[in-house]
Amino acid sequence: KRVGVLFGGRSVEHEVSVITGMQVIENIDKTKYDVVPIYISKEGKWLTGSSLMNFKNFKEDNLKDAKEIIMTPVFRDNKYYTHPEAIGFLGKKLMETVDVIFIALHGTNGEDGTIQGLFELIDIPYTGGGVLASSVGMDKVTMKDVFKAHGLPIVDHIWFFRKKWFENKEEIIKEVEEKLGYPVFVKPANLGSSVGITKAKNRETLMDSIEIAIRYDRKIIIEKSVENPREVNCAVMGYDDNIRASLCEEPVGWKELLTYEDKYINSNTKGSKGSSRNIPADIPEETTKLIQDTAQKAFMAIDCRGNARIDFLLDKEGKVFVNEINTLPGSVAYYLWEPMGISFKDLISELIDISLA
Ligand code: DAL
Ligand code: MG
Repeated sequence: KRVGVLFGGRSVEHEVSVITGMQVIENIDKTKYDVVPIYISKEGKWLTGSSLMNFKNFKEDNLKDAKEIIMTPVFRDNKYYTHPEAIGFLGKKLMETVDVIFIALHGTNGEDGTIQGLFELIDIPYTGGGVLASSVGMDKVTMKDVFKAHGLPIVDHIWFFRKKWFENKEEIIKEVEEKLGYPVFVKPANLGSSVGITKAKNRETLMDSIEIAIRYDRKIIIEKSVENPREVNCAVMGYDDNIRASLCEEPVGWKELLTYEDKYINSNTKGSKGSSRNIPADIPEETTKLIQDTAQKAFMAIDCRGNARIDFLLDKEGKVFVNEINTLPGSVAYYLWEPMGISFKDLISELIDISLA
């Protein structure tokens, strides 16, 4: 089978996706699959060519000569658009060159159902969640509504559209103070990797935090802070109710918020493995069981497929809250499966098998 590994993309998580893409290309079973690397630049240009396989030293500038362009967006009104004709060309090109796409994108246009919709329409199998799971999993407000409807524990929150902030700041502040109280986390509803997220401890910092978040999204979510939490993550793999949970991990060495820098820059481990982590997390066995069970429920609640990482918060009493589901986790969360005897190579093969099932 010819596997198109898709990475980069038009999202604030572009760089993280390049790491994930390179890791997939490095670890995919080359005796079983022919790899077709496909890089999407920040403007949305789709490129392929063997020079993209240079996972040891990936730099866009190095690739100028060697890359073959499969789609170029148009620039209009200060924005890049994908021209309908380019989509037709892209579809034809993909059908000629790959049998299945391994999506190694994160965030907007990659993890949110948009690209999944494109592959549905042109009838090319792809790894990971479908349109519904991806879009629900990307929007923190809708995601939490679905979790809540399924009886899963979430932290209290409110949300509003950006426009309302310009029209009625007082009402939003009042709602935060009455329903949540400080401190709170202010987040753009639709981003990943902690981009645009800040903590607010009082009215003044709340206003600053909202000003930051509205730069990134038209929809803002404000969550009550779980103070001195432990973060525990767990991956789930499979499709329908044919699923299983991984070991739990606890990222360590972070302060109030696991930032983009903690996850990818201050990392003392390689690639997007993130900050240091304890695997398995040092938590009681019943808590592990509860997290694994809740993670599987969260996966099913959004009708996910493939491999997702579900992030939890534990408060001081050890009460468990689902924080979010990441339908395309960084590094495919391979480090959660490896200690269970599933190598990165086998994980990739299994995800491809699931996408073709
Ligand atoms: N959004 C990043 C890639 C993650 O959750 O792993
Ligand atoms: Mg996320």
